[in-house]
Amino acid sequence: MTRVFSGVKPTGHLTLGNYLGAMRQWAAVDQHRAEALFCVVDLHALTVDHDPARVRRLSRQAATLLLAAGLDPRLCTVFVQSHVDEHARLSYLLECVATDGEMRRMIQYKEKAAREQRRGGSVRLSLLTYPVLMAADILAYGADEVPVGDDQAQHVELTRDLAVRFNQRYGHAFVVPRATHPTVAARVMNLQEPLAKMGKSDDTGPGIVYLLDEPDVVRKKVMRAVTDSGREVVYDRESRPGVANLLEILAACTGGNPEALAGAYESYGALKADTAEAVVEVLRPVQERHKELCADPGHVEGVLRDGAERARGMARPTVDAAYRAIGLLPAS
Ligand code: TYM
Repeated sequence: MTRVFSGVKPTGHLTLGNYLGAMRQWAAVDQHRAEALFCVVDLHALTVDHDPARVRRLSRQAATLLLAAGLDPRLCTVFVQSHVDEHARLSYLLECVATDGEMRRMIQYKEKAAREQRRGGSVRLSLLTYPVLMAADILAYGADEVPVGDDQAQHVELTRDLAVRFNQRYGHAFVVPRATHPTVAARVMNLQEPLAKMGKSDDTGPGIVYLLDEPDVVRKKVMRAVTDSGREVVYDRESRPGVANLLEILAACTGGNPEALAGAYESYGALKADTAEAVVEVLRPVQERHKELCADPGHVEGVLRDGAERARGMARPTVDAAYRAIGLLPAS
């Protein structure tokens, strides 16, 4: 059976981008067709300046939202990365096959390091090695597929390179995974800056729809979205990025196609109004379920406890085998 692994990082409140680009497919498709693991990757949240209490809170919230989005622990494994030591154990081995140059070429590293420096902070070494830990997340489980938004494509490519290199040098230890992306909304853009990704760790609140935004807040954000000069509603990501983003969001929420939808609108106002309502309707069941789950925190804790146990059982044999393959002396 195909094995699937993916994760979300608790560095901010989860967004519509996370939902349309990843979580929705995990719930609607992946957990039904594959042996799937979904992880709150909390170790990754320590790679930039962080507040411990906030990371803990956001980790719990992300896990709750994964369940609220429809992940069913009877069908898939939901867990927290730091509960399973194998991620950090394997990451070190992969650091011994990865190179410094490879890490410095990662687009997200360059962007995030520049942002930290602009804020006057220093760049944590873990930010540089972030993609190696991500590779360990994936390779520890022998995942065949990694369903992610477009922004993670380069990291999954690196994971493939590391798996191939390790296998060639030390004997077959890892499955070489591939990234899969949704057909629409693989890159939801910021409503205020349609050339930038809608990212949860960004500060431009008005351009980001959070999964837990109240309906009126969602409406306000969508109605105030930056559109392009011109009046005609056309789908063109290059010359009309703002309108294209709205069309993609609407298409992703209603199951339509952005080009076809463009022909159905005569004004930006009507497009925005329909997009706002479509987003509100998509988020409604997630928010309702989230509220129910918050009333029963013991349930979420139980799911995470069982999930970590299952995940450990899957990762340990692979990571132990990699330790032996690379030349480390077994403990007994
Ligand atoms: P993260 O937490 O930034 O995002 C979680 C998932 O949401 C997708 N996504 C988007 N998709 C479309 N439009 C957007 N604006 C948007 N923003 C986010 C991401 O592509 C991702 O699929 N490095 C990863 C977390 C990670 C991981 C892993 C993922 C760590 N280890 C192993 C897969 C496998 C990240 O920062 O995702």
